[in-house]
Amino acid sequence: MATIGGQILCQAPDRSSSIREGVVRIEDDRIVEVSFEAISGSVDWGDAETFITPGFIDTHLHLPQFDSIGAFGMPLLDWLSEVIFPAEENWNDMDYARSMIARVIDQCLSVGTTGICAYATSSYDATITALDMFQRVGLRGVIGQAMMDRAAPMSLTVPTEQLIEQVEAALQQFPPTGRMATAVTPRFALSCTESALLAAADLARRFDAMIQTHLAETRRECEVVSKHFDGMPYVDVYDKMGLVTERSVFGHGIYLDDLSVARLVQAGSVIAHCPTANSFLGSGTMNRNDHLAHGVRLSLGSDVGAGFERSMVRVGRAMIEAAIAKQFQSDAFRRTGMIDYAKVPTAPQAWYQITAGNAEAVRWKDGGRIEVGQPADLVIVQPDVPWRLARCPLSTLMYSWDDRWVRHTIVNGRHYTIGPNGAGVRTEKGESLGAVR
Ligand code: GUN
Ligand code: ZN
Repeated sequence: MATIGGQILCQAPDRSSSIREGVVRIEDDRIVEVSFEAISGSVDWGDAETFITPGFIDTHLHLPQFDSIGAFGMPLLDWLSEVIFPAEENWNDMDYARSMIARVIDQCLSVGTTGICAYATSSYDATITALDMFQRVGLRGVIGQAMMDRAAPMSLTVPTEQLIEQVEAALQQFPPTGRMATAVTPRFALSCTESALLAAADLARRFDAMIQTHLAETRRECEVVSKHFDGMPYVDVYDKMGLVTERSVFGHGIYLDDLSVARLVQAGSVIAHCPTANSFLGSGTMNRNDHLAHGVRLSLGSDVGAGFERSMVRVGRAMIEAAIAKQFQSDAFRRTGMIDYAKVPTAPQAWYQITAGNAEAVRWKDGGRIEVGQPADLVIVQPDVPWRLARCPLSTLMYSWDDRWVRHTIVNGRHYTIGPNGAGVRTEKGESLGAVR
């Protein structure tokens, strides 16, 4: 049992958020009480200056790419073959994979991420190891074996039948009902044969599993996909294979015509918006406002390592910046020199997105909220700016955010203390995370 006092991030029905002073009580893996009252001296952690937020949820990231952040100057397909595939080959060495996964877990906890929808590599062993290690620490979400049976180096290409058997075995070991589960993860249309794409859809259906893949991230990628699949639009390729479902999370979704968008809406599929990755690779800017107006379900992801921010708070800020950049291209801005703020998310809306909004988008039944009965996934933050006096405290927090403010990250009721200046993550008993893993 533990009590935490502070300013609690609360979600509003209009998909925004606010703060209220109060005390959160957790028991085992659950939040058992939230009382909005002045903080008494008897709490275990926190005070009136402390910010308590639900753990952040990152709905699109690549675990083997954490060491590849910052390889600037190449468009997507060149970057994949020159930077990413060599990095992912490293995970064929299980000692290497294990030690890197340990570091990635530390980094997730250090920035307050407690929920993930992640890609591993095409290695089954590395994928299972990642699932196992993330599960032991207590994080929530999915990790998928990045399915590749064509158009990749030999060392990353898995023969189709073996690949399908491995994904099925992973689904049996880490079924969708688990707090840490696998997801069917055909990397993208170009890395899979038609047989693999069809089998992926079949497995997802049979196991009721989440599907993750990439969609329409760059113009060049769309052209190559269209050429490879007889002129078909990108969404139609996935649709023909049975991959456009309400359990599908498509990374990026920048270059989509109206019919494709309508099909995604009809199916209830999700687009994981990844603004940092899109600017870093020079891919383009997703039109969030248009997608929302058409009724697309949107989530937000860091897309590390194309994305250069591990912190979902800064990805939330990048989402705002991307929406402003879209405004600069509008006719209204050219005419008036002013942006339409109604088409730009506010910081309180961005806080909503990186917590409850992302949980809802990917159809988690709970998560992303500090409410009684919710899993105890929380971040205890001690800002060193006078944020509570600001005009909009949540905006001040988001724009002046410093990862060093993250003092404790609680996942599934387990308490991890974040050491200052990269001193590492420790358990409540002061052990290093190696003991847990
Ligand atoms: N498309 C296929 N694979 C990838 C990847 O690893 N990162 C990004 N950003 N796009 C992809
Ligand atoms: Zn990605």
